[in-house]
Amino acid sequence: MKLLDKIKNKRLKVGIIGLGYVGLPLAIEFAKSGIETIGIDINGQKVSMLNAGKSYIQDIDSQLIKHLVEKSKFTATNDFKAIASIDVVFVCVPTPFNKAKAPDISFMINAAKSISSYLSKEKLIVLQSTTYPGTTDEDIIPILEQSGLKAGKDFYIAFSPERIDPGNKKFNVKNTPKIVGGLTLKCADLTKRVFSLIIDEKNIHVVSCPRSAEMCKLLENIFRSVNIALVNELLILSNRMGIDFWEVIDAAATKPFGFLPFYPGPGVGGHCIPVDPYYLSWKAREYNFFANFIELAAEVNQNMPYYAVEKIGEALNLQNKSLKNATVFILGLTFKKNIDDIRNSPSFEIIKLLLNKGAKVWGFDPYVNHYEAAAKEYDLKGDIHFIPLTKANLKKADAVAILVNHDKFNLKMIADNSKVLIDMINAAKYLNKYKNIIKL
Ligand SMILES: NC(=O)c1ccc[n+]([C@@H]2O[C@H](COP(=O)([O-])OP(=O)(O)OC[C@H]3O[C@@H](n4cnc5c(N)ncnc54)[C@H](O)[C@@H]3O)[C@@H](O)[C@H]2O)c1
Repeated sequence: MKLLDKIKNKRLKVGIIGLGYVGLPLAIEFAKSGIETIGIDINGQKVSMLNAGKSYIQDIDSQLIKHLVEKSKFTATNDFKAIASIDVVFVCVPTPFNKAKAPDISFMINAAKSISSYLSKEKLIVLQSTTYPGTTDEDIIPILEQSGLKAGKDFYIAFSPERIDPGNKKFNVKNTPKIVGGLTLKCADLTKRVFSLIIDEKNIHVVSCPRSAEMCKLLENIFRSVNIALVNELLILSNRMGIDFWEVIDAAATKPFGFLPFYPGPGVGGHCIPVDPYYLSWKAREYNFFANFIELAAEVNQNMPYYAVEKIGEALNLQNKSLKNATVFILGLTFKKNIDDIRNSPSFEIIKLLLNKGAKVWGFDPYVNHYEAAAKEYDLKGDIHFIPLTKANLKKADAVAILVNHDKFNLKMIADNSKVLIDMINAAKYLNKYKNIIKL
């Protein structure tokens, strides 16, 4: 049966390669809509957990996975042979950078090699990992064509960037608009039809080619990185000029057109904003182009953890204390609010800087329970302890710094019990001008 007919009759089998923050929610959405879905991941522990009905992603409920596994709508495997029976394969593997900040697309290459071994006519491959423009046609298609099949003719391929925002209660896989860039019109049309099985068709925007779709994702993330850098820089200037920049942003945000509020912070983290822009600046060099905005934004944002540590030092100074031997209690270790993801989190960068200066550091996050693994991952050395958030512990610390605006934090209780609170999230806005608060 042709792929088009299978989609029309909802008699297709979908496969997702890479069951992380992006792949698992997508797999669950297809399975929920009644489509037989197979998840493939090289991580055997994740595969076993999923087949046992256990979720490892905060936004996905274990009960739902269990139900879908029992109904045989969803199964996980680490056996790539499964691809042979799959009609549509989504690729959602990581795209980090290496130590020299050059793109590392090896996970995509490996996934493509695995697909190539089991590729057959009429299969559709949809790449979702964030990457530089040209990856689909220059790097991935040649590997897939080693199967002897021709892209756009024997099999179909499209790039469709993922925009999922983990922890976002309003926007999820189902209601976040999708961008689709197919190699051919037919590739785009088939991809659009497949997404229409789980997303409202009016939320699917087709562009002319995979490169435009690849570039679109980078534009979105560079836009964020540049705007965050802008407010970070203006925050530092405003502090020097004695202006409360947080108040300025709130005031500017009253303008109903032409202004979009972005907020300063102790640094940018996660898998996307600190990583993706470098994918483009790296690729730009091939075209003898120097991407100034990307590099400048990265420079300003990377400086913020150092600025945050300066502020902590300033707060201790006011109490005639130095960073050396002071006890600093860091609240919030994830890279953004209300999630458990600690990847590239500026909190750990700040902890490292504090430890290097001889401070004793305590840490707490209501969403993190894997402290030891985190300390190992970030190679933390020195006097560091992860302790509960209690009134007594707050009172014992020389300074408390709040880095993440988790809803679970009781800001009043924290401010009431801290000798001095270094506020990196504009908590003061909710606390009616406490005296012991020093803003970032
Ligand atoms: N996390 C986000 O919020 C987000 C948002 C939008 C886009 N993205 C992009 O989506 C992609 C995936 O990100 P993520 O956050 O889901 O990553 P993740 O690390 O959470 O998950 C990736 C999964 O892929 C698996 N994997 C790696 N190589 C594999 C292979 N060859 N075959 C099968 N499985 C393999 C890993 O074991 C892991 O489970 C990245 O390109 C990222 O930039 C992420």
